[in-house]
Amino acid sequence: VNSNEKNQLEGISLLEKLFHHLLMNTEEGHEALEYLLDRGFNESQLNQYKVGWALPGWETASKLLEKKGFDLSLMEEAGLVIKRDDGTYFDRFRNRVMFPIEDAKGRTVGFSGRIITPEKNEPKYLNSPESPLFQKNSLLFNFHKARGSIRKEKFAVLFEGFADVIAASETVSNGVATMGTSLTKQHIQQIKRLTDTVVICYDGDNAGTEAAFKAAGDLSANGMTVKVARLPSGLDPDDYIQKFGGIKFREEVIQHALSLMAFKMWYLRSGKNLQTEDGRLAYINAALPEISGLGSAVEKELYVKQLSDDTGVSFSSLEEQLKTYMPVKENNPVIEEPVIPLPKKTSILK
Ligand code: UTP
Ligand code: MN
Ligand code: MN
Ligand code: MN
Ligand code: MN
Repeated sequence: VNSNEKNQLEGISLLEKLFHHLLMNTEEGHEALEYLLDRGFNESQLNQYKVGWALPGWETASKLLEKKGFDLSLMEEAGLVIKRDDGTYFDRFRNRVMFPIEDAKGRTVGFSGRIITPEKNEPKYLNSPESPLFQKNSLLFNFHKARGSIRKEKFAVLFEGFADVIAASETVSNGVATMGTSLTKQHIQQIKRLTDTVVICYDGDNAGTEAAFKAAGDLSANGMTVKVARLPSGLDPDDYIQKFGGIKFREEVIQHALSLMAFKMWYLRSGKNLQTEDGRLAYINAALPEISGLGSAVEKELYVKQLSDDTGVSFSSLEEQLKTYMPVKENNPVIEEPVIPLPKKTSILK
């Protein structure tokens, strides 16, 4: 850590304390505290995650940083303040609930600030900008706190939003979330150092399902075992926990996560009208290549059976069709089989 970064970490840490104090102990933070308690966070979670409140004024943080002797141009690079044309500085985060973001070492390297009264042209969450300390492509929210649980439970839960991680933390402490970006190679490598199993638990909407399908493919391509938890349509994990509680979330959602192939079958079937021939054919044509790629004969039979049950097409026709798909094995050179003449009578092979 060079001296500039050390300085920036100190500035971030000072604001983390300021925001947290404003939320928990002041009249100015009262409405924000009510908002957070109303949506189901408790005080212990707010303390553990050092959640805070940034005042609506323009210069609360910048004045404090200046008074404490911080170099404001360094604070600008750290994303805390923004420079005006006249060379003075104003606060980046105003009028927002502040969620500190830690890096893998547990150092707070930035913030995400949530608006509580929607305003036009204002994003719901405002994140720290990219900087040497804050790199969204490799940051996983809660990674440092979850490290021990991930090792102990032998899997990690991957959420879409950090609000979900916090909401779940009391019953599911092995959760992490990306910072509004898709899952990158760096994220995957970090998780892989602790475990090779991931339960994806994204939001129960179209965007969440699409993103889960993509993340599942990427994790699996990196040699990880993937399961996908499913939520009732329209709910995200935080909504579910508010409605049904954390214990039910762990036992019904996380522990009942689907295997990757079961999720793929569900995903490929969803949105297709199986009452129509077109819908059934589209489902079959999408599912068979996936089934043909399965390693075990038992699994293949299981999913051909499911496809047959779902579409009413006979097991034997589907099996016949399955033979036309050649699974493509990556990184494995194609080895030419020696040509052995077929026996004259093939009746025993049926
Ligand atoms: P969601 O919209 O699902 O947020 O975005 P959420 O976690 O349910 O939050 P609440 O419950 O409304 O408070 C998921 C993630 O996408 C990023 C954030 O990282 C968020 O956690 N995001 C979303 C942004 O960065 N900016 C936004 O404006 C919205
Ligand atoms: Mn909630
Ligand atoms: Mn979402
Ligand atoms: Mn959500
Ligand atoms: Mn939510």
